[in-house]
Amino acid sequence: MLDKGSLRILGEALEKLDAGFAALPEFDARVPGAERIAETLAATAERLQDNYPYFHPLYAGQMLKPPHPVARLAYALAQWINPNNHALDGGRASSAMEKEAVAGIAEMFGWKEHTGHLCGGGTMANLEALWVAGQLAPGKKILASEQAHYTHARISGVLELPFVAVASDARGRMDIRKLREHIVRGDVGTVVATMGTTATGAVDPLAEILELREKHGFRVHADAAYGGYFGLAGNLGGEARRGFDLLPRVDSVVIDPHKHGLQPYGCGCVLFGDPGVGKLYKHDSPYTYFSSKEMHLGEISLECSRPGAAAAALWATQKLLPLGKGGEFALGLEDCRRAAIDLHERLDKDARFVVAFPPELDIVVFAPRAASVSEASERSRRIFEAAARRNLHLAVAELPVSFFAANLRQMRKDRASLTCLRSVLMKPEHKEWIGRIWEILGEATTECMGD
Ligand SMILES: Cc1ncc(COP(=O)(O)O)c(C=O)c1O
Repeated sequence: MLDKGSLRILGEALEKLDAGFAALPEFDARVPGAERIAETLAATAERLQDNYPYFHPLYAGQMLKPPHPVARLAYALAQWINPNNHALDGGRASSAMEKEAVAGIAEMFGWKEHTGHLCGGGTMANLEALWVAGQLAPGKKILASEQAHYTHARISGVLELPFVAVASDARGRMDIRKLREHIVRGDVGTVVATMGTTATGAVDPLAEILELREKHGFRVHADAAYGGYFGLAGNLGGEARRGFDLLPRVDSVVIDPHKHGLQPYGCGCVLFGDPGVGKLYKHDSPYTYFSSKEMHLGEISLECSRPGAAAAALWATQKLLPLGKGGEFALGLEDCRRAAIDLHERLDKDARFVVAFPPELDIVVFAPRAASVSEASERSRRIFEAAARRNLHLAVAELPVSFFAANLRQMRKDRASLTCLRSVLMKPEHKEWIGRIWEILGEATTECMGD
Protein backbone atom coordinates (compact mmCIF):
# COMPACT_ATOMS: atom_id res chain seq x y z
CA MET A 1 0.00 0.00 0.00
CA LEU A 2 2.80 2.47 0.86
CA ASP A 3 4.95 3.73 -2.03
CA LYS A 4 8.35 2.05 -2.07
CA GLY A 5 9.21 2.47 -5.77
CA SER A 6 10.38 6.03 -5.26
CA LEU A 7 13.33 4.83 -3.13
CA ARG A 8 15.16 3.99 -6.35
CA ILE A 9 14.84 7.64 -7.42
CA LEU A 10 16.32 8.67 -4.07
CA GLY A 11 19.33 6.38 -4.69
CA GLU A 12 19.96 8.04 -8.05
CA ALA A 13 19.63 11.53 -6.64
CA LEU A 14 22.06 10.64 -3.84
CA GLU A 15 24.66 9.63 -6.42
CA LYS A 16 24.16 13.02 -8.07
CA LEU A 17 24.49 14.86 -4.77
CA ASP A 18 27.60 12.90 -3.87
CA ALA A 19 29.21 13.80 -7.19
CA GLY A 20 29.14 17.43 -6.08
CA PHE A 21 31.67 16.60 -3.32
CA ALA A 22 33.95 14.37 -5.39
CA ALA A 23 36.98 16.64 -4.87
CA LEU A 24 37.12 15.82 -1.14
CA PRO A 25 39.43 13.09 0.20
CA GLU A 26 37.68 9.81 1.11
CA PHE A 27 36.81 9.24 4.77
CA ASP A 28 34.93 6.61 6.76
CA ALA A 29 31.97 8.03 8.63
CA ARG A 30 31.53 6.53 12.08
CA VAL A 31 28.15 4.84 11.75
CA PRO A 32 27.00 1.72 13.59
CA GLY A 33 26.75 -1.51 11.54
CA ALA A 34 23.94 -1.94 9.01
CA GLU A 35 22.54 -4.88 10.96
CA ARG A 36 21.90 -2.82 14.08
CA ILE A 37 20.37 -0.02 12.03
CA ALA A 38 18.08 -2.52 10.26
CA GLU A 39 16.97 -4.01 13.59
CA THR A 40 16.27 -0.59 15.05
CA LEU A 41 14.42 0.55 11.96
CA ALA A 42 12.27 -2.58 11.93
CA ALA A 43 11.36 -1.83 15.56
CA THR A 44 10.52 1.74 14.52
CA ALA A 45 8.29 0.49 11.69
CA GLU A 46 6.50 -1.78 14.12
CA ARG A 47 5.83 1.13 16.48
CA LEU A 48 4.61 3.30 13.61
CA GLN A 49 2.01 0.70 12.61
CA ASP A 50 -0.04 2.05 15.50
CA ASN A 51 -1.40 4.97 13.46
CA TYR A 52 -4.54 5.79 11.59
CA PRO A 53 -3.96 5.24 7.84
CA TYR A 54 -3.55 8.93 6.97
CA PHE A 55 -2.34 8.06 3.45
CA HIS A 56 -5.55 6.20 2.52
CA PRO A 57 -8.73 7.84 1.17
CA LEU A 58 -10.72 6.06 3.88
CA TYR A 59 -8.94 8.31 6.33
CA ALA A 60 -11.30 11.26 6.04
CA GLY A 61 -11.09 12.71 9.54
CA GLN A 62 -8.67 15.41 10.68
CA MET A 63 -6.35 17.63 8.61
CA LEU A 64 -3.83 14.91 7.91
CA LYS A 65 -2.25 13.46 4.82
CA PRO A 66 1.21 12.35 3.77
CA PRO A 67 3.51 14.61 1.76
CA HIS A 68 3.93 14.35 -2.00
CA PRO A 69 6.64 11.77 -2.88
CA VAL A 70 8.84 14.50 -4.35
CA ALA A 71 8.68 16.43 -1.05
CA ARG A 72 9.48 13.31 0.96
CA LEU A 73 12.39 12.43 -1.31
CA ALA A 74 13.82 15.95 -1.47
CA TYR A 75 13.58 16.21 2.33
CA ALA A 76 15.36 12.87 2.74
CA LEU A 77 18.00 13.81 0.16
CA ALA A 78 18.78 17.08 1.95
CA GLN A 79 19.19 15.20 5.22
CA TRP A 80 22.36 13.55 3.95
CA ILE A 81 23.77 17.06 4.34
CA ASN A 82 21.35 18.41 6.97
CA PRO A 83 21.53 22.12 6.13
CA ASN A 84 20.39 24.71 8.66
CA ASN A 85 18.67 27.77 7.19
CA HIS A 86 19.46 29.98 10.15
CA ALA A 87 22.44 31.44 8.34
CA LEU A 88 24.15 31.05 4.99
CA ASP A 89 27.09 29.23 6.63
CA GLY A 90 24.65 26.45 7.56
CA GLY A 91 22.54 26.30 4.44
CA ARG A 92 23.69 28.22 1.42
CA ALA A 93 21.79 26.36 -1.30
CA SER A 94 18.75 25.62 0.83
CA SER A 95 18.47 29.30 1.93
CA ALA A 96 18.34 30.29 -1.73
CA MET A 97 15.72 27.57 -2.30
CA GLU A 98 13.70 28.91 0.63
CA LYS A 99 13.76 32.46 -0.74
CA GLU A 100 12.62 31.20 -4.16
CA ALA A 101 9.88 28.97 -2.75
CA VAL A 102 8.58 31.73 -0.47
CA ALA A 103 8.64 34.20 -3.39
CA GLY A 104 6.52 31.66 -5.29
CA ILE A 105 3.95 31.70 -2.49
CA ALA A 106 4.02 35.52 -2.34
CA GLU A 107 3.38 35.59 -6.09
CA MET A 108 0.42 33.24 -5.61
CA PHE A 109 -1.02 35.89 -3.25
CA GLY A 110 -0.36 38.57 -5.85
CA TRP A 111 2.43 40.24 -3.88
CA LYS A 112 5.17 41.90 -5.90
CA GLU A 113 7.04 42.90 -2.75
CA HIS A 114 7.24 40.94 0.46
CA THR A 115 9.38 39.66 3.23
CA GLY A 116 8.81 36.24 4.72
CA HIS A 117 10.18 32.81 5.42
CA LEU A 118 9.36 29.26 6.38
CA CYS A 119 8.92 28.20 9.99
CA GLY A 120 7.82 25.27 12.12
CA GLY A 121 4.11 25.55 11.30
CA GLY A 122 0.99 27.69 11.50
CA THR A 123 1.39 28.40 15.20
CA MET A 124 4.93 29.77 14.84
CA ALA A 125 3.93 31.69 11.70
CA ASN A 126 0.95 33.32 13.43
CA LEU A 127 3.10 34.07 16.48
CA GLU A 128 5.50 35.96 14.29
CA ALA A 129 2.74 37.89 12.47
CA LEU A 130 1.17 38.92 15.80
CA TRP A 131 4.58 39.74 17.27
CA VAL A 132 5.16 42.16 14.38
CA ALA A 133 1.61 43.52 14.91
CA GLY A 134 2.42 44.09 18.61
CA GLN A 135 5.71 45.80 17.79
CA LEU A 136 3.94 48.22 15.46
CA ALA A 137 0.95 48.87 17.74
CA PRO A 138 2.09 48.10 21.31
CA GLY A 139 -0.68 47.21 23.77
CA LYS A 140 -3.47 47.36 21.18
CA LYS A 141 -6.10 44.63 20.87
CA ILE A 142 -5.97 41.57 18.64
CA LEU A 143 -9.42 40.58 17.35
CA ALA A 144 -10.22 37.19 15.83
CA SER A 145 -13.46 35.27 15.44
CA GLU A 146 -14.68 32.69 17.95
CA GLN A 147 -14.03 30.12 15.23
CA ALA A 148 -10.42 31.26 14.68
CA HIS A 149 -7.77 28.75 15.73
CA TYR A 150 -7.28 28.81 19.51
CA THR A 151 -3.65 29.62 18.91
CA HIS A 152 -4.50 33.33 18.43
CA ALA A 153 -5.82 33.77 21.96
CA ARG A 154 -2.88 31.84 23.36
CA ILE A 155 -0.27 33.71 21.29
CA SER A 156 -1.79 37.04 22.32
CA GLY A 157 -1.34 35.90 25.92
CA VAL A 158 2.31 35.03 25.27
CA LEU A 159 2.83 38.46 23.67
CA GLU A 160 0.87 40.17 26.46
CA LEU A 161 -1.52 41.72 23.96
CA PRO A 162 -5.23 41.99 24.83
CA PHE A 163 -7.31 39.48 22.83
CA VAL A 164 -11.01 39.72 21.95
CA ALA A 165 -13.02 36.88 20.38
CA VAL A 166 -15.61 38.20 17.92
CA ALA A 167 -18.83 36.17 17.64
CA SER A 168 -19.27 34.17 14.46
CA ASP A 169 -22.42 34.09 12.32
CA ALA A 170 -24.57 31.03 11.56
CA ARG A 171 -22.13 30.02 8.80
CA GLY A 172 -19.06 29.97 11.04
CA ARG A 173 -17.65 33.25 9.68
CA MET A 174 -16.74 36.35 11.64
CA ASP A 175 -19.95 38.34 12.29
CA ILE A 176 -19.17 41.67 10.71
CA ARG A 177 -21.76 43.57 12.79
CA LYS A 178 -20.15 42.29 15.98
CA LEU A 179 -16.72 43.19 14.63
CA ARG A 180 -17.88 46.75 13.92
CA GLU A 181 -19.17 47.06 17.51
CA HIS A 182 -15.77 46.05 18.89
CA ILE A 183 -13.92 48.35 16.50
CA VAL A 184 -15.86 51.48 17.39
CA ARG A 185 -14.88 50.90 21.04
CA GLY A 186 -11.34 51.65 19.83
CA ASP A 187 -7.84 50.43 20.63
CA VAL A 188 -7.84 47.73 17.96
CA GLY A 189 -4.38 46.95 16.62
CA THR A 190 -5.06 43.95 14.41
CA VAL A 191 -7.99 41.97 13.05
CA VAL A 192 -7.27 38.36 12.17
CA ALA A 193 -9.27 37.12 9.18
CA THR A 194 -9.34 33.34 9.04
CA MET A 195 -9.36 32.14 5.43
CA GLY A 196 -10.63 28.65 6.16
CA THR A 197 -11.41 27.88 9.79
CA THR A 198 -10.05 24.71 11.30
CA ALA A 199 -13.44 23.29 12.25
CA THR A 200 -15.53 23.97 9.15
CA GLY A 201 -13.35 25.67 6.53
CA ALA A 202 -15.40 28.89 6.78
CA VAL A 203 -13.87 31.97 5.14
CA ASP A 204 -14.15 35.25 7.06
CA PRO A 205 -15.63 38.23 5.12
CA LEU A 206 -12.35 39.85 4.14
CA ALA A 207 -13.96 42.47 1.87
CA GLU A 208 -15.96 43.93 4.76
CA ILE A 209 -12.99 43.70 7.14
CA LEU A 210 -10.87 45.67 4.66
CA GLU A 211 -13.63 48.25 4.30
CA LEU A 212 -13.59 48.73 8.07
CA ARG A 213 -9.82 49.10 7.96
CA GLU A 214 -10.19 52.01 5.50
CA LYS A 215 -12.28 53.87 8.02
CA HIS A 216 -10.74 52.87 11.33
CA GLY A 217 -7.12 52.02 10.50
CA PHE A 218 -5.87 48.73 11.95
CA ARG A 219 -3.71 45.90 10.64
CA VAL A 220 -5.32 42.96 8.90
CA HIS A 221 -3.64 39.61 9.33
CA ALA A 222 -4.95 36.65 7.28
CA ASP A 223 -4.65 33.25 8.89
CA ALA A 224 -4.73 31.16 5.73
CA ALA A 225 -2.83 28.30 7.38
CA TYR A 226 -5.40 25.83 6.14
CA GLY A 227 -7.17 27.57 3.28
CA GLY A 228 -4.38 29.61 1.67
CA TYR A 229 -3.87 27.46 -1.41
CA PHE A 230 -7.59 27.42 -2.25
CA GLY A 231 -7.24 30.78 -4.00
CA LEU A 232 -5.93 28.65 -6.90
CA ALA A 233 -9.11 26.56 -7.11
CA GLY A 234 -11.48 27.46 -9.92
CA ASN A 235 -14.58 26.13 -8.15
CA LEU A 236 -14.95 28.28 -5.03
CA GLY A 237 -18.27 29.89 -4.16
CA GLY A 238 -18.64 33.62 -4.94
CA GLU A 239 -18.01 34.95 -1.42
CA ALA A 240 -14.95 32.80 -0.77
CA ARG A 241 -13.59 33.74 -4.21
CA ARG A 242 -13.97 37.41 -3.42
CA GLY A 243 -12.12 36.95 -0.12
CA PHE A 244 -9.17 35.09 -1.68
CA ASP A 245 -8.93 37.67 -4.46
CA LEU A 246 -8.46 40.37 -1.82
CA LEU A 247 -5.54 38.67 -0.07
CA PRO A 248 -2.96 40.97 -1.74
CA ARG A 249 -4.42 43.78 0.39
CA VAL A 250 -3.77 42.31 3.84
CA ASP A 251 -0.72 43.28 5.92
CA SER A 252 0.43 39.77 6.69
CA VAL A 253 -0.56 36.24 5.81
CA VAL A 254 0.17 32.79 7.15
CA ILE A 255 -0.04 29.64 5.05
CA ASP A 256 0.91 26.09 5.99
CA PRO A 257 2.65 24.15 3.23
CA HIS A 258 2.42 21.20 5.63
CA LYS A 259 -1.37 21.23 5.32
CA HIS A 260 -2.48 21.63 1.69
CA GLY A 261 0.99 22.26 0.26
CA LEU A 262 1.95 18.56 0.21
CA GLN A 263 4.85 18.98 2.69
CA PRO A 264 6.04 16.94 5.67
CA TYR A 265 5.22 18.50 9.05
CA GLY A 266 7.46 21.33 10.13
CA CYS A 267 6.65 23.67 7.25
CA GLY A 268 4.67 26.84 7.91
CA CYS A 269 5.15 30.17 6.18
CA VAL A 270 4.66 33.80 7.22
CA LEU A 271 4.64 36.68 4.76
CA PHE A 272 4.50 40.45 5.18
CA GLY A 273 3.51 42.82 2.39
CA ASP A 274 5.85 45.52 3.71
CA PRO A 275 9.47 44.34 3.50
CA GLY A 276 10.27 47.16 5.96
CA VAL A 277 9.05 45.03 8.90
CA GLY A 278 12.36 43.16 8.53
CA LYS A 279 14.02 45.91 10.59
CA LEU A 280 11.99 44.86 13.65
CA TYR A 281 14.05 41.66 13.83
CA LYS A 282 17.32 43.53 14.08
CA HIS A 283 19.86 42.05 16.47
CA ASP A 284 23.62 41.72 16.75
CA SER A 285 25.18 38.33 16.37
CA PRO A 286 28.95 38.31 16.55
CA TYR A 287 29.20 34.65 15.50
CA THR A 288 26.33 33.70 13.16
CA TYR A 289 26.56 36.15 10.30
CA PHE A 290 30.26 36.33 9.80
CA SER A 291 31.03 34.73 6.49
CA SER A 292 28.72 36.60 4.10
CA LYS A 293 27.33 40.08 3.66
CA GLU A 294 24.31 38.70 1.82
CA MET A 295 21.02 38.59 3.77
CA HIS A 296 20.70 35.55 6.07
CA LEU A 297 17.19 34.23 6.75
CA GLY A 298 17.96 34.27 10.47
CA GLU A 299 17.95 38.07 10.26
CA ILE A 300 14.23 38.12 9.41
CA SER A 301 12.96 35.24 11.52
CA LEU A 302 12.29 34.63 15.22
CA GLU A 303 13.30 30.97 15.06
CA CYS A 304 17.03 30.40 14.73
CA SER A 305 17.87 26.88 13.51
CA ARG A 306 15.43 25.73 10.85
CA PRO A 307 15.58 22.71 8.55
CA GLY A 308 17.06 23.45 5.15
CA ALA A 309 15.49 20.11 4.21
CA ALA A 310 12.02 21.68 4.52
CA ALA A 311 13.04 24.38 2.03
CA ALA A 312 14.46 21.79 -0.38
CA ALA A 313 11.24 19.78 -0.16
CA LEU A 314 9.01 22.81 -0.81
CA TRP A 315 11.22 24.07 -3.63
CA ALA A 316 11.12 20.64 -5.33
CA THR A 317 7.34 20.40 -4.93
CA GLN A 318 6.75 23.84 -6.42
CA LYS A 319 9.13 23.00 -9.28
CA LEU A 320 7.17 19.84 -10.07
CA LEU A 321 3.74 21.34 -9.38
CA PRO A 322 3.85 25.12 -9.95
CA LEU A 323 1.36 27.23 -7.98
CA GLY A 324 -0.71 28.38 -10.95
CA LYS A 325 -4.45 28.42 -11.55
CA GLY A 326 -5.55 25.52 -13.76
CA GLY A 327 -2.32 23.54 -13.08
CA GLU A 328 -2.07 20.02 -11.66
CA PHE A 329 -1.74 21.28 -8.10
CA ALA A 330 -4.78 23.58 -8.43
CA LEU A 331 -6.84 20.78 -10.00
CA GLY A 332 -6.07 18.60 -6.99
CA LEU A 333 -7.59 21.24 -4.71
CA GLU A 334 -10.64 21.47 -6.96
CA ASP A 335 -11.11 17.70 -6.60
CA CYS A 336 -11.00 18.02 -2.80
CA ARG A 337 -13.70 20.67 -2.97
CA ARG A 338 -15.81 18.55 -5.34
CA ALA A 339 -15.57 15.64 -2.92
CA ALA A 340 -16.80 17.87 -0.09
CA ILE A 341 -19.72 19.23 -2.13
CA ASP A 342 -20.67 15.68 -3.18
CA LEU A 343 -20.66 14.43 0.41
CA HIS A 344 -22.59 17.47 1.65
CA GLU A 345 -25.27 17.02 -1.02
CA ARG A 346 -25.71 13.33 -0.22
CA LEU A 347 -26.06 14.14 3.49
CA ASP A 348 -28.46 17.01 2.82
CA LYS A 349 -30.80 14.77 0.82
CA ASP A 350 -30.80 11.96 3.39
CA ALA A 351 -33.35 12.20 6.21
CA ARG A 352 -31.02 10.36 8.61
CA PHE A 353 -28.64 13.33 8.75
CA VAL A 354 -28.63 16.98 9.61
CA VAL A 355 -26.08 19.17 7.87
CA ALA A 356 -24.63 22.56 8.72
CA PHE A 357 -24.02 25.09 5.93
CA PRO A 358 -22.53 24.00 2.55
CA PRO A 359 -18.72 23.71 2.66
CA GLU A 360 -16.72 26.74 1.52
CA LEU A 361 -13.56 24.64 1.11
CA ASP A 362 -13.26 20.86 1.60
CA ILE A 363 -14.50 20.30 5.16
CA VAL A 364 -17.95 18.82 5.82
CA VAL A 365 -19.73 18.83 9.19
CA PHE A 366 -22.89 16.85 9.89
CA ALA A 367 -24.72 14.89 12.55
CA PRO A 368 -27.21 12.06 12.70
CA ARG A 369 -30.80 13.18 13.21
CA ALA A 370 -32.34 12.37 16.62
CA ALA A 371 -35.09 13.59 18.92
CA SER A 372 -32.76 16.03 20.64
CA VAL A 373 -29.35 17.65 20.23
CA SER A 374 -27.96 15.64 23.14
CA GLU A 375 -29.14 12.35 21.61
CA ALA A 376 -27.69 13.34 18.23
CA SER A 377 -24.42 14.17 20.00
CA GLU A 378 -24.20 10.73 21.59
CA ARG A 379 -25.09 9.11 18.30
CA SER A 380 -22.31 11.03 16.51
CA ARG A 381 -19.76 9.45 18.81
CA ARG A 382 -21.19 5.98 18.24
CA ILE A 383 -21.17 6.43 14.45
CA PHE A 384 -17.58 7.68 14.67
CA GLU A 385 -16.62 4.40 16.35
CA ALA A 386 -18.80 2.16 14.16
CA ALA A 387 -17.27 3.74 11.03
CA ALA A 388 -13.72 3.27 12.42
CA ARG A 389 -14.46 -0.44 12.95
CA ARG A 390 -15.17 -0.53 9.19
CA ASN A 391 -11.92 1.33 8.43
CA LEU A 392 -13.60 4.67 7.70
CA HIS A 393 -11.97 7.29 9.89
CA LEU A 394 -13.91 10.50 10.52
CA ALA A 395 -13.42 13.15 13.20
CA VAL A 396 -15.71 14.44 15.94
CA ALA A 397 -16.22 18.17 16.59
CA GLU A 398 -18.17 20.25 19.09
CA LEU A 399 -19.92 23.09 17.25
CA PRO A 400 -22.58 25.69 18.11
CA VAL A 401 -26.13 24.44 17.47
CA SER A 402 -26.70 27.68 15.53
CA PHE A 403 -24.57 26.24 12.68
CA PHE A 404 -27.25 23.56 12.18
CA ALA A 405 -30.30 25.66 13.13
CA ALA A 406 -31.69 25.96 9.60
CA ASN A 407 -31.91 22.17 9.27
CA LEU A 408 -32.77 20.92 12.76
CA ARG A 409 -36.55 20.70 12.16
CA GLN A 410 -38.16 19.11 15.26
CA MET A 411 -34.90 18.28 17.01
CA ARG A 412 -35.06 19.58 20.62
CA LYS A 413 -32.36 22.13 21.32
CA ASP A 414 -31.44 20.90 24.80
CA ARG A 415 -27.76 21.86 24.43
CA ALA A 416 -25.97 24.93 23.09
CA SER A 417 -23.46 22.84 21.17
CA LEU A 418 -23.75 19.74 19.06
CA THR A 419 -21.17 16.97 18.96
CA CYS A 420 -21.07 16.32 15.25
CA LEU A 421 -19.03 14.42 12.70
CA ARG A 422 -16.42 16.23 10.69
CA SER A 423 -14.70 15.12 7.55
CA VAL A 424 -11.69 16.89 6.06
CA LEU A 425 -11.55 15.69 2.45
CA MET A 426 -8.06 16.93 1.70
CA LYS A 427 -6.86 14.17 -0.64
CA PRO A 428 -7.77 14.58 -4.33
CA GLU A 429 -8.48 10.82 -4.32
CA HIS A 430 -11.44 11.55 -2.06
CA LYS A 431 -13.38 12.62 -5.14
CA GLU A 432 -13.41 9.02 -6.42
CA TRP A 433 -13.88 7.56 -2.94
CA ILE A 434 -16.99 9.44 -1.83
CA GLY A 435 -19.20 6.58 -3.07
CA ARG A 436 -17.36 4.06 -0.88
CA ILE A 437 -17.21 6.49 2.06
CA TRP A 438 -20.96 7.03 1.73
CA GLU A 439 -21.63 3.27 1.72
CA ILE A 440 -19.60 2.69 4.89
CA LEU A 441 -21.10 5.73 6.59
CA GLY A 442 -24.55 4.34 5.75
CA GLU A 443 -23.73 0.96 7.31
CA ALA A 444 -22.27 2.56 10.43
CA THR A 445 -25.30 4.84 10.76
CA THR A 446 -27.79 1.95 10.37
CA GLU A 447 -25.92 0.13 13.16
CA CYS A 448 -26.29 3.14 15.48
CA MET A 449 -29.71 4.58 14.53
CA GLY A 450 -31.70 1.99 16.41
CA ASP A 451 -29.94 2.70 19.76
C1 LIG B 1 -6.54 28.15 10.60
C2 LIG B 1 -5.40 27.55 11.37
N1 LIG B 1 -4.50 28.36 11.96
C3 LIG B 1 -3.47 27.88 12.66
C4 LIG B 1 -3.29 26.51 12.82
C5 LIG B 1 -2.12 26.01 13.62
O1 LIG B 1 -1.19 25.46 12.74
P1 LIG B 1 -0.09 24.39 13.15
O2 LIG B 1 -0.84 23.20 13.67
O3 LIG B 1 0.63 24.13 11.88
O4 LIG B 1 0.78 24.99 14.19
C6 LIG B 1 -4.21 25.62 12.23
C7 LIG B 1 -4.07 24.19 12.41
O5 LIG B 1 -4.94 23.40 12.12
C8 LIG B 1 -5.28 26.16 11.48
O6 LIG B 1 -6.19 25.37 10.90
